[in-house]
Amino acid sequence: MRIVIMGGTSGIGLAAANRLTAAGHEVTVTGRDPEKLARVKELVHAAESVDGTDEEQVRAFFDRIGDIDHLVLAFSPGARGIGPIRDIDLADLRAGFDGKLFAYLHAIQRARVSGSITMVSASSARAALPGTVTFAAVNGAIERVVSPLAAELAPIRVNAVSPGVVDTPWWAFLPPDQRAAQFTSAGQQIPAGRVGTGADVAAAIAYLVDADYVTGSILPVDGGFTVA
Ligand SMILES: NC(=O)c1ccc[n+]([C@@H]2O[C@H](COP(=O)([O-])OP(=O)(O)OC[C@H]3O[C@@H](n4cnc5c(N)ncnc54)[C@H](OP(=O)(O)O)[C@@H]3O)[C@@H](O)[C@H]2O)c1
Repeated sequence: MRIVIMGGTSGIGLAAANRLTAAGHEVTVTGRDPEKLARVKELVHAAESVDGTDEEQVRAFFDRIGDIDHLVLAFSPGARGIGPIRDIDLADLRAGFDGKLFAYLHAIQRARVSGSITMVSASSARAALPGTVTFAAVNGAIERVVSPLAAELAPIRVNAVSPGVVDTPWWAFLPPDQRAAQFTSAGQQIPAGRVGTGADVAAAIAYLVDADYVTGSILPVDGGFTVA
């Protein structure tokens, strides 16, 4: 199968690329940073420079790559927009929508995909954590569009995985000691007893890529965070 993973050079997307490549699929990953692209180039079928927020680049990429079986959308503008509603800059809130929701929808408009689309949202969409309004708004919107897209694009299947806290470079904005403390505390508050890994989420993505009878679903991969 031909699979494109946008945001596949780091973290969850890279873990999914490794898993799906090991399963025998032809995986093309995209990202922006040339160093990250160079690092993963040998691990996958191809690594291409595409800014998911640049409409021309996205259009040209999908025209160039042609027909694909599966599309995985695994990028975001990182922690931009984190913080209490009265403190965050409106531009950062908008950047969350531009860099994730609108970019995902534009990729879906352009991709010539026949099998499935899997979006990576976030458990903040269904939680009540102070300081996460931007993530709740953006990922809530992504989770909300799963069902109409699944109905509209059928027989293409459309699903989302919804991770909780996952130990990836997304958290690089925190100094290492603060990050470790945050992961310990988050792990202690959920049934799984630990934060997630990229591989944990990749397993769910691989499942949704393969699961021919699953569409319109949002699969929490959060160690039980949203039920705890
Ligand atoms: N880590 C968590 O705790 C967590 C929890 C819930 C949800 N999520 C979601 O999981 C997804 C993946 O996050 P992650 O933790 O794997 O983060 P990550 O390790 O920082 O990886 C992000 C990937 O997206 C790429 N990317 C970022 N902006 C891009 C753009 N404009 N165009 C193309 N590629 C872009 C990055 O490469 P370049 O920077 O080189 O472009 C990188 O490959 C995101 O949607 C995030 O919101 C993460």
